[in-house]
Amino acid sequence: MRGNGSTSVLSRESLLALRADTPGVANVVHFNNAGCGLAPAPVLTAMLDHLRLEAQIGGYEAAAARADQVRGFYDELAALINCGPGNIAFASSATHAYTTALSAIPFQRGDVVLTTRNDFISNQIAFLSLRKRFGVRVVHAPDTPEGGVDVDAMAALMREHRPRLVAATHIPTNSGLVQPVAEIGRHCRELDLLYLVDACQSLGQYPIDVDEIGCDLLTSTCRKFLRGPRGTGFLYVADRVLRAGYEPLFIDMYGARWVAQDRYQPVETAARFEDWEFPYAALLGCAEAARYARSVGLDAIADRAPALAARLRRSLAEVPGVRVLDRGTELGALVTFAIDGWEAQPFKAAMDARKINSALSFREFAQYDFGDKDVDWCLRLSPHYYNTEDEVDEVAAAVAELSKAR
Ligand SMILES: Cc1ncc(COP(=O)(O)O)c(C=O)c1O
Repeated sequence: MRGNGSTSVLSRESLLALRADTPGVANVVHFNNAGCGLAPAPVLTAMLDHLRLEAQIGGYEAAAARADQVRGFYDELAALINCGPGNIAFASSATHAYTTALSAIPFQRGDVVLTTRNDFISNQIAFLSLRKRFGVRVVHAPDTPEGGVDVDAMAALMREHRPRLVAATHIPTNSGLVQPVAEIGRHCRELDLLYLVDACQSLGQYPIDVDEIGCDLLTSTCRKFLRGPRGTGFLYVADRVLRAGYEPLFIDMYGARWVAQDRYQPVETAARFEDWEFPYAALLGCAEAARYARSVGLDAIADRAPALAARLRRSLAEVPGVRVLDRGTELGALVTFAIDGWEAQPFKAAMDARKINSALSFREFAQYDFGDKDVDWCLRLSPHYYNTEDEVDEVAAAVAELSKAR
């Protein structure tokens, strides 16, 4: 998934231009890109232009007038993850995309969902809900001693259980771990198992290639490392899944035609998973965000953002009373740590007071991972390519000062 770094390093001039394009960097040290990235100016402009047009000529009429640009959303997202535009369904959040995908799987009592100990909280809750309603069994593959899923053990569980679904989160919300989703995918393809990937934290941070991953379904938001607007996400649906006739449980008048009084016909493309109503301004913002990320270059981003995070981890590891929590053979741009002598909210408030944006994670976000690490909460810092080394050092110094002041 990593870029080779040979032609991709961002020059100082490009970095300055990218920061000039990002109004928010003048106000805050934004290390909460894993929550929501700072939108670049073209994303903001695309959305404001459309909202103005809606006010001037009417919402439906504005969508019709911008039909080409709306199609651009599908083209841009498809180019970003290497699929066709017909494989992309817009969704209002990653979770909405995920549960819509789950609703398409005709689970039977005793079916197995095979997942990891680091899959996202809402996905884990959804699996437990499937267990409660349908008697599905949820099996978690073990981790390696270094952290991250043990792919060989997971493959053995695939052969043992023949799961109805294999699910993996590429980068969890609660640590910088990058899971080997393509290795898992190779086993799924070999065994012809349905494979769902949550790429919420990796989209816009790493190049994503659905063919290389070998997934059938992939979900993401557009608001995090992709730097699109809130309230947006998408579901990728592979051709083989569309051809096999998977459709969401509740399919609306956009996803299906009501062809006779007692019959509906799902549409051919991933639009089958969409609703009729769209936030068009946000959709156009996403198209712009995808275009922007591709113009910066995903290899360059994948070189820079995790490198800034690594620099931060190195500095934090030197601070007495701080325990860096990220484990795994590959780590991305999410840095998590525990700090002695502080409660969660006051610590975050102290960072806020320094205009450093961060996020808290609690035990209930990651029952397995935080149980293993024996922490009840941590602070998450997530730099992006438009952040600077100076900002990293400023953030590390702020944590060191707060650690001393406890
Ligand atoms: C790994 C991961 N998956 C899914 C989600 C959920 O995204 P959304 O809030 O768009 O539903 C998040 C959000 O933090 C996440 O980190």
